[in-house]
Amino acid sequence: MIRNRTTAVNLVIVCIAIAVSAILTASCIKNKNLVLAGFEKDEGSSLADPSKKYDLAIVVTGSTAGEFEPCGCGGVYEGGFSRRSTMIDRLKKVHSNILLVDTGDLAFGIGEVIQFEFLAQAYHMLGYDAVALGEGDLRVGFDALNQYAKQYQLPMVVSNLKFKSPTAIREVIPVERGGLRIAFISVIAERWLGIVPEETRRRLTYEPPAQTLARLVPKLKKDYDAVVLLSHLGTDEREKLAGKLDGVDLWIDNGAHQWVSNPATQPSSRIQPEFCNLQQYPPLLVSWKNDRKIGVAGLSWKDRKFSITVAEMIPVAREIKEDVRFLEIYDVYKYVSRQDAINRIANPRVTATMPAKAFPYESSDTCGSCHQEIYDFWKTTGHAKAFATIRKDNRDADSNCLACHTSGFREPGGFENPITTPHLKDVGCQICHRVDMKKHHKTSLPPERAKIEKIRAKVNNITASWQCQRCHVPHRSPKYNYSQYLKKIKCTQALDPAQE
Ligand code: HEC
Ligand code: HEC
Ligand code: HEC
Ligand code: HEC
Repeated sequence: MIRNRTTAVNLVIVCIAIAVSAILTASCIKNKNLVLAGFEKDEGSSLADPSKKYDLAIVVTGSTAGEFEPCGCGGVYEGGFSRRSTMIDRLKKVHSNILLVDTGDLAFGIGEVIQFEFLAQAYHMLGYDAVALGEGDLRVGFDALNQYAKQYQLPMVVSNLKFKSPTAIREVIPVERGGLRIAFISVIAERWLGIVPEETRRRLTYEPPAQTLARLVPKLKKDYDAVVLLSHLGTDEREKLAGKLDGVDLWIDNGAHQWVSNPATQPSSRIQPEFCNLQQYPPLLVSWKNDRKIGVAGLSWKDRKFSITVAEMIPVAREIKEDVRFLEIYDVYKYVSRQDAINRIANPRVTATMPAKAFPYESSDTCGSCHQEIYDFWKTTGHAKAFATIRKDNRDADSNCLACHTSGFREPGGFENPITTPHLKDVGCQICHRVDMKKHHKTSLPPERAKIEKIRAKVNNITASWQCQRCHVPHRSPKYNYSQYLKKIKCTQALDPAQE
């Protein structure tokens, strides 16, 4: 009985919600004829009219959550940083006054420290104006967060957290654009701090968002034309804050992580998310989980108030050309994160935020002093010429190329540069055999004796396909096929069975 009643009530609520969201969606694209320039029809967007006037175009992203490339979730291969870059470049070509903002969670989940580092670099290259702090970013750990925010001049902002030590994360970010002085602030809900590691949690204090706004906004209104609030809240917290926004001129909240349930019947490009509420003041824009869409809105500034003439979510469609600069960063990210996984498997007690233990890299010549036939064979493979290849291209000092053309790039004890670590140029033996000479080869016997005594080597071969794919990524090795490739480089073919 009660259950039925609850169901009925739920049904009514759902109906109301659908009706309300339909109204919101409709109001969102207030005028279908007004469109933003920079996009063409074939890219899955209806935004194409350059003649329309507005003072600023704002580009909203959020919840990248480590997805440098389309995740392919639900079978939809949209998104990715290299396409996001192409879209933003096009907008920039057409509109001089663009604000580029993100609602946080650059990184999230496994490998978040490395994700954050590479995404910070990518965000810097795109020229973001303000990036809110999300709990996914805090999970990276205070020190790493700070280090990369500083290194890549990431304009990260959070106004309701106070850090107990000096930090590159700011309380307010000032931006001048289109003749307006704009102050960006940002708040995060307390509940999200629940998943931040204790070590980082201890280094900050929290202030309720409403209190932060009351403290900060009136002051900012004196020095700036407009105050833009970024927030990392979630639906219910967002509703609670809605009545307490005096003085805020535009509000941009982090949206839910929405997925396409059935891509066959519902291609994501046709889903209209709840991107905005323009009926209220300040107008609200909500970011979409970003491997799929970016939000674009055209703002006008009249009577010291923003109004939004156009607002739409644009799919980061598969057809959009990829910006090769971001593919290059992404390749290195892939190498580094896979190599890190290999190191962590070998040292299971190392936690995610700890640097992996140094591995004692040797020159392949050293290995060759005992494994002569194999060494001679290896010399004939591309792996032994990998450094010469990037030198030919004059890219031998470029960290975007060194990762896969050397041994132990970025690892303690690994390749640094051709002068201090000349023996670690090329893809050496230890890239495929995790041989620690002290641990696994307990000998300093000369090669001849060693052979006779037969070292009890306990070797960790790292020659599975996913391990080759540290470097053999699609963009660099499009013809990669494990069994065919393995055949070409397998060292055992060098050994004369008669000698065994
Ligand atoms: C002092 C001589 C010596 C040096 C230097 C040496 N090895 Fe060995 N290694 C041996 C001997 C002896 C064996 C025993 C295998 C055999 O029966 O031939 C062996 C075994 C191996 C095996 C096979 C282990 C297994 O599980 O069957 C690998 C792989 C290997 N070495 C890789 C390397 C690499 C990589 C290096 C350089 C970092 C290296 N070795 C340096 C002497 C040496
Ligand atoms: C550290 C990065 C790295 C790893 C790991 C790696 N490779 Fe390579 N591989 C390269 C590079 C770089 C080249 C291109 C070398 C050149 O020509 O400059 C290459 C080239 C090759 C080639 C073509 C060249 C030739 O000699 O015929 C084959 C085949 C190959 N790799 C197989 C493999 C297999 C199989 C694995 C895993 C067991 C593997 N590689 C692991 C970086 C790597
Ligand atoms: C993610 C790892 C990775 C990165 C980063 C990388 N490469 Fe490579 N590169 C490879 C692999 C793997 C191959 C071998 C492809 C194959 O044969 O299938 C290769 C092959 C090459 C080749 C062709 C070699 C030949 O003669 O066939 C050139 C040239 C090259 N890379 C240049 C570069 C340059 C320049 C950069 C920096 C912009 C770079 N690579 C960055 C992995 C990488
Ligand atoms: C690109 C990867 C790669 C590189 C680089 C490489 N090897 Fe190998 N090696 C293999 C593969 C694959 C096998 C076959 C065993 C397997 O599948 O894991 C093998 C087998 C061996 C074996 C026989 C022991 C065994 O486990 O069957 C020895 C010894 C060896 N390699 C030593 C070396 C030495 C020394 C070098 C450097 C001169 C070297 N390898 C470079 C991939 C590699």
